[in-house]
Amino acid sequence: MSSSRTSLWGGRFAGGPAEALARLSVCVQFDWRLAPYDLAASRAHARVLAGAGLLDADELGRMLAALDDLEAACAAGEFRPTVDDEDVHTALERGLLERLGTLGGKLRAGRSRNDQVATDLRLYLRDHVRGMATNLVQLADALIEQAERHVDTPVPGMTHLQHAQPVTFGHWLLAHVQPLLRDLERLRDWDTRAAISPLGAGALAGSSLPLDPAAVAKELGFVAPAANSMDAVADRDFVAELLFVASLLGVHLSRLGEEVVLWTSQEFGWVELDDAFATGSSIMPQKKNADIAELTRGKAGRLIGDLVSVLTMLKGLPLTYNRDMQEDKEPAFDAVDTLELVLPALAGMISTMTVRVDRMVAAAPAGYTLATEVADWLVRKGIPFREAHEVTGRLVALCVARECALDEVSDGDLELVSPHLDPSVRDVLSVRSALAARTTPGSTGPGPVADQLASAVDKLDGWREWATEHVVPR
Ligand code: ARG
Repeated sequence: MSSSRTSLWGGRFAGGPAEALARLSVCVQFDWRLAPYDLAASRAHARVLAGAGLLDADELGRMLAALDDLEAACAAGEFRPTVDDEDVHTALERGLLERLGTLGGKLRAGRSRNDQVATDLRLYLRDHVRGMATNLVQLADALIEQAERHVDTPVPGMTHLQHAQPVTFGHWLLAHVQPLLRDLERLRDWDTRAAISPLGAGALAGSSLPLDPAAVAKELGFVAPAANSMDAVADRDFVAELLFVASLLGVHLSRLGEEVVLWTSQEFGWVELDDAFATGSSIMPQKKNADIAELTRGKAGRLIGDLVSVLTMLKGLPLTYNRDMQEDKEPAFDAVDTLELVLPALAGMISTMTVRVDRMVAAAPAGYTLATEVADWLVRKGIPFREAHEVTGRLVALCVARECALDEVSDGDLELVSPHLDPSVRDVLSVRSALAARTTPGSTGPGPVADQLASAVDKLDGWREWATEHVVPR
């Protein structure tokens, strides 16, 4: 180890760290992205040190100017971490010492990397969650736009991937919007718990210096300082919780992706992807693949992996800080990065896809999706549902044997299946009438879907401001 190396510790050590330790320990290659947040926290801390009389006005001025200069140098790529910088905090202290000499060494009073790193990561995640929300809103916009176009395009709704009952494609697409609206709520709920400032906790016990954790919290956009200094540095709930929200979001996107894969298959033929959002094959010239949908499905596995690795890392840790916790950052960053890639691609794919209405209309009644209409028709005539189900089942069996549709059964055969059946049952045997009959809130009829659409648009509009708000002062 060279003696010019900046280290935040070393006084009690006889020599420098072994190469193998340094290589294991270093994390600046992935925590460097915390630099702007670390600098923001440093500015707040400098002001608090001045308030405590530990920096005079001149020193504070020079400190803040140096921090600004360092921030600009970082942004311009002129100041970079070196292999000797253990982490982002070490690198930035080196930058400060280069600019201020011994004055730079005053900033570390009353704080520790333990409260610093917890603060930086909260700031980073709170900042990026708004971007995630913005991308989510855009995906929901794309789904809503398509839903508006297809409020009365019938499709066979499915259970067990078998044709079940007709629904509209608009209703189906809106069924993918609802989970995204819940994801937005989860992000906001997460943010209310993440908006707590660990700074002031020091290593774990707080500080003997007259710091002002509330002022630091306020300056950094937090709602309040942590209630317990030990919890402040030991807590990584905000990482695990966000990774859960990201995983669940990933699962929602994956289920949508899976459906797009199905819809674009030859067998369904319901959707055609825009060329810009599909890929080809290196050997089969005819191929058009839904890679965005597949990558979305695949990335869900990564997001879940990120969550599992952080929970597993945390589960046996005694209070307070342990170095294991350095392993929280890569999964957290990976989840943010993954969603930053997936969400815009998915939104583009959805908003540009062409829906094959003809194929959907043809598929809607296939597989006897109107059988329930017959059973309900019988129920309206006073037949117990149990018997109505039986009768309709026999009618379906007859149609299967005859290879005909429900409304193609002759008057005589209807009578033969059950004396309760008569030709007027054909009134309910159209997809359109089946859809129109569904008037209860939340169902697939035109009225309830229009209501749902309006409310989804309304709710989404309510998120736009939150999603673009700047929570972290720069
Ligand atoms: N790089 C460390 C981390 O990410 C910073 C905190 C180091 N604290 C310590 N006591 N060694 O967790």
